[in-house]
Amino acid sequence: MEFKKMSWVLAFVGFMFLGGICKANGHTHYYDFVLTESNFTRLCETKSILTVNGTLPGPTITVRKGDTAYVNVHNQGSYGLTLHWHGVKQPRNPWYDGPENVTQCPIQAGSNFTYWIIFSTEEGTLWLHAHSDWTRATVYGTIVILPALNTTYPFTTPDAEETMVLGSWYKGDVNEIIENALATGGDPKVSDAFTINGEPGDLFKCSSGNYLISLLQKTK
Ligand SMILES: *[C@@H]1O[C@H](CO)[C@@H](O)[C@H](O)[C@H]1NC(C)=O
Ligand SMILES: *[C@@H]1O[C@H](CO)[C@@H](O)[C@H](O)[C@H]1NC(C)=O
Ligand SMILES: *[C@@H]1O[C@H](CO)[C@@H](O)[C@H](O)[C@H]1NC(C)=O
Ligand SMILES: *[C@@H]1O[C@H](CO)[C@@H](O)[C@H](O)[C@H]1NC(C)=O
Ligand SMILES: *[C@@H]1O[C@H](CO)[C@@H](O)[C@H](O)[C@H]1NC(C)=O
Repeated sequence: MEFKKMSWVLAFVGFMFLGGICKANGHTHYYDFVLTESNFTRLCETKSILTVNGTLPGPTITVRKGDTAYVNVHNQGSYGLTLHWHGVKQPRNPWYDGPENVTQCPIQAGSNFTYWIIFSTEEGTLWLHAHSDWTRATVYGTIVILPALNTTYPFTTPDAEETMVLGSWYKGDVNEIIENALATGGDPKVSDAFTINGEPGDLFKCSSGNYLISLLQKTK
């Protein structure tokens, strides 16, 4: 009886020890995200939007598979919100997943909250976005997860890598648009432009960013 108990304790200790070894493989990254209102001009109109560190899209998180990141979100905006790490499985770590009022209360204006993000099996490019109302229309960025050290993507290493984030631009306040729609029961108005890396491109007036995307087949 006593021996049986002992072996369980040993198994548990062994499990904890292995867990420790697995964790030691990855690196830990620290980021500060400052949420602030700033003026942006798109479609010839200027409006104030909430973004991460005053940029649209916001900063990129770059890690390797198996790493851990801590992101301290300093909310200097005027309303509460949360952030979500889209596509990151967060095993046994749901309290840092982000959906407002599901896994956490909003990060109140004037306060900060540190997210603990565990990168387990993901590899490639994902995105991060606010998970409160339509704040995600402006508070978003990229997560690049490189293969673990000494491993490669399951395809030939590309000659170059560029990140493209697709988005929508709305004239007017995005949170007001969804709140009005919810209050009336109608559909929210459709966006006024689609964006690549925050820019509507030269199909729209007053654009500063143009993209030429060609897909080329590599010749052998
Ligand atoms: C955001 O801005 C803050 C303060 O200006 C800076 O400390 C932080 O490193 C920036 N974060 C990123 C991810 O660039
Ligand atoms: C945005 O522009 C308006 C009008 O010019 C100005 O009142 C406001 O202070 C600006 N907001 C920010 C965050 O700079
Ligand atoms: C979350 O709860 C707060 C406090 O009750 C509320 O103000 C807010 O509207 C809720 N958010 C959502 C998305 O329901
Ligand atoms: C973050 O918030 C905590 C309270 O939750 C506070 O003690 C701390 O000073 C804040 N840190 C920063 C850098 O704002
Ligand atoms: C990666 O490979 C190098 C050289 O072979 C080796 O020194 C290093 O320990 C390896 N790192 C990992 C995490 O496997």
